[in-house]
Amino acid sequence: MVRILMVCLGNICRSPLAEGIMRKKLSENHIEAEVDSCGFESFHTGDPPDPRSVEIAAEFGIDISMLKSRLFKTKDFDEFDRIFVMDNNNYALVASRARNKEDLSKVDLIMNVLNPVSGAQVPDPYYGGDSGFLKVYKMLDQATDRIIEQIKSNNFKAL
Ligand code: 4NP
Repeated sequence: MVRILMVCLGNICRSPLAEGIMRKKLSENHIEAEVDSCGFESFHTGDPPDPRSVEIAAEFGIDISMLKSRLFKTKDFDEFDRIFVMDNNNYALVASRARNKEDLSKVDLIMNVLNPVSGAQVPDPYYGGDSGFLKVYKMLDQATDRIIEQIKSNNFKAL
């Protein structure tokens, strides 16, 4: 069973969307997996996702309204096989908690699944308008399609 953790800063905009999209695709493809999301900013801990993330997910038939923001914990390195972060800041925060090379090897920018040398980041839409959420949705839709392909072709952990 694959275990995937999606990480952003607040765990209310990007990573809950990533979790919801991934969950739907795993279910549609009958893939047994565990998916969760978390962040590093405690301001929203326990809160549901930002209404704009809930709305864009709903437009695509995904319900993320029941998710609750939580903080990253070091034990997440033991509980997940892959830790996908949205941007370089998230990467640095997760990497700073890595205990060894194996922990660090689990962490990658999510957009690197499409092009490992691009270093592309999923921009934080929190302070922008609604179009930022659609852009984030589209990026995550593409990345999660590739993750599903990789799982199906057994290429997932060998990334
Ligand atoms: P996210 O966006 O990392 O995509 O959830 C943010 C939402 C809230 C905050 C930071 C980022 N915040 O600091 O409140």
